[in-house]
Amino acid sequence: MARSVTEWVNVTGDISIIARESGEVWFHTSSGTKEDVGPFATPMTGAGSAGSTVGLLDGALNLGFAGIEKRLARPDPTLAGYIVALAGAYHTSVDTPRNLRRAASRFNALGRPEVAAYLEERAREETGHDRLALKDLHALGVPGERLVANFIPEGIKPLCERFDALCAEHYPIGCIGYSYCLERIAALKQKTDIEKVQALCPDGVDATRFLRSHSCLGSEVAHVEETIEFVASLPATDRIRVVQETYESALIMAEGYNHELLKSETEMLEELQQALGEALPYRLGSYPSHGEKRGARPAA
Ligand SMILES: [Fe+2]
Ligand SMILES: [Fe+2]
Repeated sequence: MARSVTEWVNVTGDISIIARESGEVWFHTSSGTKEDVGPFATPMTGAGSAGSTVGLLDGALNLGFAGIEKRLARPDPTLAGYIVALAGAYHTSVDTPRNLRRAASRFNALGRPEVAAYLEERAREETGHDRLALKDLHALGVPGERLVANFIPEGIKPLCERFDALCAEHYPIGCIGYSYCLERIAALKQKTDIEKVQALCPDGVDATRFLRSHSCLGSEVAHVEETIEFVASLPATDRIRVVQETYESALIMAEGYNHELLKSETEMLEELQQALGEALPYRLGSYPSHGEKRGARPAA
């Protein structure tokens, strides 16, 4: 009988994630002494498996998100927060196909057509997602193009910059870790999360196209599954880099969440109105904005 696969990756100075094909995952903190020469002290070199690879990827996400303020992790949505999130969703989507194709052509040049083919397929699947966010903004009566031209949520900007930089690297395998982070977090969104947003929207308005497609109801679930299978098939050095980048992207995303979620609804409304150069449509801007309700939830 074939031996069960165990994979491990060192993600920070002293923390490694260890995952078994059976689904067990644990974190190992090295003591930093010379005696610390356990089996996980050197990088893994063997083949991956879907069961152990998903353990590493989700372990990296959990570790990266450990710093998020728990009380803010699942806020009640507000309309202002949702509009901010849609602007963020636009910015994290608009350059994705172009960036992925750039990384794909690099892998073609490097003689890795299987990685290139995977990235080109993702580029096709992600095409038009920025339009979904714009349509949602329009449905709410917000001039989406003008908003996104003048406004990128501060907590989202570092994520976009990270992805741009990863796709432009000489060996851009890290972009898969970034994409996994965003898609896995999106796939955690439940039907009830969408219903809560729907309840905030004026009657008869469908403004959850992006959210639906980037939730457990949409294509993200399949994207996540395909990515796990693909990452598991990669050589160990690539898997290590992908898991490390999943961790780094999760850290950046968690910091962005903390930043955006700490804003009050009034602050968010002010930001939006400043970017638009006018007040939000009456029926959106007329809800009570004097409270200290918080709740922009950056959309992946
Ligand atoms: Fe997408
Ligand atoms: Fe996706």
